[in-house]
Amino acid sequence: MHPSSEALVLGVETSCDETSVAVVRGGREVLSNVVSSQIPLHAEFGGVVPEIASRQHVRAIGEVTRVALSEAGVQMADIEMLAATRGPGLAGALLVGLNFARGMGLGLGVPVAGVNHLEGHLHSVWLSRDSPPVPPPVLPMLALVVSGGHTELVVMRDHGKYELLGRTLDDAAGEAFDKVARILGLDYPGGPAIQRAATGADEPVRLPRAWLPGTFDFSFSGLKTAVLHLALEMATGSTVTQLRGTALPKIDVAGRLSPEQVANIAAGFQESVVDVLVRKTVGAAEAVDAASVAVVGGVAANRALRERMQRDVTRALFMSAPEFSTDNAAMIASAGFYVPAPAEGDVQPGLGLSG
Ligand code: KG4
Ligand code: ZN
Repeated sequence: MHPSSEALVLGVETSCDETSVAVVRGGREVLSNVVSSQIPLHAEFGGVVPEIASRQHVRAIGEVTRVALSEAGVQMADIEMLAATRGPGLAGALLVGLNFARGMGLGLGVPVAGVNHLEGHLHSVWLSRDSPPVPPPVLPMLALVVSGGHTELVVMRDHGKYELLGRTLDDAAGEAFDKVARILGLDYPGGPAIQRAATGADEPVRLPRAWLPGTFDFSFSGLKTAVLHLALEMATGSTVTQLRGTALPKIDVAGRLSPEQVANIAAGFQESVVDVLVRKTVGAAEAVDAASVAVVGGVAANRALRERMQRDVTRALFMSAPEFSTDNAAMIASAGFYVPAPAEGDVQPGLGLSG
């Protein structure tokens, strides 16, 4: 069921905490990309609450679809294909978008593609607001997928053909940003908050890097612990060894840090993450002799990461525009256009990349 080259695809994304619907022409040209974020609803809990997410998707999806069609200047009847995320993500949240798309597909009599969310992120560098769109990446492409749930180095040989080179053994990079932000008393989501705080740093602290030599894997949990220990020491003036036996959870670490200390820890943490991500990506691109390099996913919106990638990557570099970095339906429409796997069966919360 390959769509025609100019097909209008309606994408639907509800894998986590954004309800998004988009209209994309020919897999690349974005006519609309509406994202209704639930962040304020989850912020007081410091992370996404699955039950709240599902209910909010149900509430929002109809209106988000109406706005996406209207912004694109098209009618429901113009849509030639639908594409919805089938995994990975939160089961209840995925069900809302996938079943909504299936219902619409039945009503309109058009095919519905079930899309792998990670494949969506990879396709974010095919998207463009220009008409006609600027030239796309050349394959094979080495991609760093770096988000709240994933940190992976992937070789894309063709649409639908991927090889996993390495992945995080513990926390995803975005998850580390979120957890460190919590330690420092910064807002959720942590990525943008840490980026903002880091701009005030005059002397970034030096934090460890987990290189895991000889692999393209990552590890960020040790870094998170190092931040916690350092923050405790700065907040109390005692070493972690001296603090043993103290009721640590009772210590208001964030409340005792000065804004300068928060800025210097945030900047040091960001530098450590960026350093590892960039060097591993450069090494992987060399190892597979990639024609192009892509950086995609929520953390790709990070300014320090973008600047270092621009400086150090010598191959054709494609970084998803911030609008297409965090979760959105345009990337799902694009992946569905290039890899139109029928949306059959159940949602797949633990789905990985393969093929
Ligand atoms: O791709 P995404 O929207 O959702 C997932 O599929 O996980 O990524 C969300 C993650 C969050 O952890 C958030 O803190 C991080 O991306 N993020 C950033 C920035 N903007 C979002 N991390 C660092 N710097 C940013 N500017
Ligand atoms: Zn994502």
